[in-house]
Parts: sequence; structure tokens; C-alpha cells
Amino acid sequence: MKKHLIDLNDFSPTQWNEIIALAERIMDNPHIYEGSCRGKIMGTLFYEPSTRTQMSFQSAMLRLGGGIIGFDNPTASSISKGESLKDTTKIVSSYSDIIVMRHPTEGAVKAAALTSDCPIINAGDGGHLHPTQTLTDMLTLQKEKRRLSNLKVGICGDLINGRTVHSLVKALSCYENNSFVFISTDELQMPEYITAPLENWCKKSAIDDAVADLDVLYMTRIQKERFASDAEYERQASRYVLDMPKLKRAKPDMIVMHPLPRLNEIAPEVDGDPRAVYFKQANYGMYVRMSLILIMLNYDTMKPPVLLKGRVYDGIKCKNAKCIVHFEDYLPNSFIDNAGVLTCEYCESGN
Ligand code: NCD
Repeated sequence: MKKHLIDLNDFSPTQWNEIIALAERIMDNPHIYEGSCRGKIMGTLFYEPSTRTQMSFQSAMLRLGGGIIGFDNPTASSISKGESLKDTTKIVSSYSDIIVMRHPTEGAVKAAALTSDCPIINAGDGGHLHPTQTLTDMLTLQKEKRRLSNLKVGICGDLINGRTVHSLVKALSCYENNSFVFISTDELQMPEYITAPLENWCKKSAIDDAVADLDVLYMTRIQKERFASDAEYERQASRYVLDMPKLKRAKPDMIVMHPLPRLNEIAPEVDGDPRAVYFKQANYGMYVRMSLILIMLNYDTMKPPVLLKGRVYDGIKCKNAKCIVHFEDYLPNSFIDNAGVLTCEYCESGN
């Protein structure tokens, strides 16, 4: 049986540390790992645009000696003929040893995993999660700060729709003594399912109010594609811009991270500052994905992956209109009862 990576918490912090440690070893001696995936095939199913995630996965597999199949334009595949996520996954998983999937709908990769015959990696499901970006971010912290604990992390921008920061907070909160400062407008705050389990966090509405004592400032793009209208997006766009006057207030060893692509939330003048690590961060992503592919292809367990742990409640369907259950109607509407609140098992929304 093979394990999937839908949410980073599908793996334990010990396993995250193993993935990061192997990525560091690969960076130090890449030639040792050339050919370690010879004969293996990775299917990349990208239902949503991507540059870094898709190409770093592809480059990772090619550097390991494996092959790649897949699409990044679903309109050029049978999806344009109306094929379900279930059928596409079933077929591609029979051609592949591992699948990497990005999808615009929350919970879609978990839904796909229900029918996948090979391990599947979530490369971003709508505004929900992005676990491999978080592995990238963790390797960046390890390389640039030499630690994953005792960090004060400011996260700025579109915190409601930014899937990278959801996975990041979930993971970093598992390490000792990390605290978070969430910098956003009232409309774009962190969702409740992320903040509810957190102990050490606060909200701010300006970068200037937070920047002076941060160890990390993680900037994010306002996610235009997740807004209901252009007018709503325009109201939120360009509200936060990190420029040199703001960066001057930060500690000399603070680092600036960004999953990219950047719009105008980091002024280009910041790129030359040694604290700006976002281009290095993108490069670390390739090594962490090499490590992840190697570990997942070699991970065997006797236990079948249990994806749905709750149950179907008569007549109840997830209220989140962006959840995959509204697009693929064969899916069981499965919920976990969290002290009387029914949590959707695909998108984690409370119902
Ligand atoms: C992010 C994503 O796709 O969620 N990019 C990435 O994977 N590096 C961030 C974004 O699109 O803003």
C-alpha cells in the first residue's frame, strides 16, 4: 500500500524532518541520486496554471532519472469531453507510479485519491492547501535560519485564499515556540479552521506594526482568481507592499519569503537585499520535491490509506460552494463531527 500526500499532516513531523534532511543531502551530492527513479513514471495533472510547482516537480523527476506524463491544459484532454475526476485519476494512476495533481477546487485532490491506484501528491487544491510548498518553505527555513522552531513568523496578504500559508501554519505550529502575526485586511483574514487550534498568534492590519521583531516575513499575492468579481479583487489589490523603507525597520537577520508569483506586494528594489530569499526558496523547492518523490516511491505500508474517517449524514452537503462535492456528485458527503460542528472531509469547512 502506498501513502498519499493530501495534507502535510498525513506525514508526521519526524517524516517532515526526514524529507528535509534528505533534500539537504541531495543538494550536497546530487549526482548520487541521478538514476534513482529510473523506470518510474510521474503523472502531472495540472487543472490550474503553475510555473514553479509543475516545473520543479518535472525537473525533480528528470534529475532522478524518471519519466513524466500528464497535462497542464485540461482543455486539451478528455476533461473537455466531460470526463470525471474519478475516471481521469483511475486511468492515469494505472499508467503512473506517482501522481502530482493541482486543481482549482477545494478538496479535489483528496477526492481523486479515493480512486487512485498510485500515491498522489496535492500540488494545490483551490484556496485550501499546498503541502509541497510548505516542504519548500521548511527547507528554506532550515537552510536560511538553521531552525524550524523559535520563530516569529509574520504572514501578509491574502490569508483567506492563500493555500500556501494554510499548510505553512499547520506545519510550523507543530514545532516548539513558533508564533504567528497575521497581517491582512478584515476581509482576507486566516480561516477559522487554521486559527482555531493555534495558541500563539495575533492579527495586525499593517506591515509597519509587525515587522520590527519578526524572524520571517512571508508575503503572499492577492489571489485574483478566487474572488467573485473584479471589483471585489480591486478593493483588496495593492493594499500591502513591502518596500525598502518598511524593510529598514526589520531585524538584520529577518528573511523575506514569498511562494511566488509576485505581483506588486514586494517592490523590486527589495530583491537585492540579502534578506530577500524568495528566489532561493523556489530553487529549494526542486530539491525538496526530489526528496519527497524518492521517499514516497519507497514508502510501503501494510495499512491501506484511510482517507475518509467520518461518516455521511442524511441530506447534509458541504456549505462551501468552492468544495469539490459540488462539482463531482458521486462523492460521499462525508463529515467529521468536531464537538457538534460537522467538518467537511474534503475542504475542512465547518458546517
Ligand atoms: C502559489 C500557489 O500556486 O498557491 N504558488 C506556488 O505554488 N509557488 C502561490 C500563488 O499562486 O500565489
